[in-house]
Amino acid sequence: MILLTGGTGYIGSHTAVEFINEGYDVVLADDLSNSERRVVDRIGQITGKVPAFEELDVCDKAALDRLFRKYHIDAVVHFAGYKAVGESVAEPVKYYRNNLDSTLALLEVMKVHNCRKFIFSSSATVYGENQDVPFTEDSPAGSCTNPYGRTKFFIEQILSDCAKADPELSVVLLRYFNPIGAHESGLIGEKPNGVPNNLMPYITQTAAGIRHHLSVFGNDYDTPDGTGVRDYIHVVDLAQGHLAAYRYLCGAGKGGCHTFNLGTGKGSSVLEIIHAFEEAAGIAIPYEITERRPGDIAECYADVSKAEKILGWKAVHSLKEMCASSWNWQQKSAE
Ligand code: UFG
Repeated sequence: MILLTGGTGYIGSHTAVEFINEGYDVVLADDLSNSERRVVDRIGQITGKVPAFEELDVCDKAALDRLFRKYHIDAVVHFAGYKAVGESVAEPVKYYRNNLDSTLALLEVMKVHNCRKFIFSSSATVYGENQDVPFTEDSPAGSCTNPYGRTKFFIEQILSDCAKADPELSVVLLRYFNPIGAHESGLIGEKPNGVPNNLMPYITQTAAGIRHHLSVFGNDYDTPDGTGVRDYIHVVDLAQGHLAAYRYLCGAGKGGCHTFNLGTGKGSSVLEIIHAFEEAAGIAIPYEITERRPGDIAECYADVSKAEKILGWKAVHSLKEMCASSWNWQQKSAE
């Protein structure tokens, strides 16, 4: 059985669907602080199999220990964590405490129960202010611009140290670029708390009339149209990347700590995303150019050749599909 912490969240729920569709048994653990119980049933509706679910805080070692006693856990995919960049600047202790404690608790309990496969939700944010795009897994990491990003970087370091100390432990660090889109059913997707920080949910809420207009944060970057460039990846492609990582870890005698970028390798500007969305949804998005957002960089996109070569994985969905599925989700279920 595979444990997905944060399994009812945006990326966790899509990954659960892909694992179940491939015949794997999963248990989702989540404290529902940023997701909903009904996601479990929605995953069941999509796959025909309702996954096991345990409501718990991953920092709670006793609760984790009970979970590992109840199920035979072969591998952990650790999605659970706080992820709001702005909040992490205002409340760094909350971020360090939660994101680091949950990882340490998992590592301790996994060791006791001899579970030796760990896949971690990392982020392209670890490349920080480095501007040498495209980023390869060997690009300098650690110059993060906020505490959230530093929690990801610190956890990568912790996991790498643990894999060095324990040859039985196999770790994969997956550095996500910008996941957008939703499952084609429209039953699961990204549901931000309050006003969205990220571009795509802000666009879909503007299209739905929930937001008046979109602010484009700066058009004076050194990019083709002056707006920020990111590597947007369909969340279903990203989810399948976890499946590829799991299969890789199951290969004989892996051990060690292995890092992979999960992106498309293609950068798109904010204006390109707006126009792609307008085309996919047939709705005009009112926007205004405003000041740059502090901490943003000009360009961030991946070199994805390592994942392609070693994991045999490649993102396949187009930008249009990403936009259309985000809009489908917004209309059907994001209320
Ligand atoms: N943007 C706008 N207006 C908005 C929101 C975003 O113009 O209302 C722009 C940003 O300036 C940026 C681009 O859209 O150029 C993407 O911004 P997002 O907030 O959607 O994503 P980021 O690239 O800033 O951050 C995301 C995740 C982080 C993660 C990071 C990794 O939110 O968790 O990617 O690079 F760490």
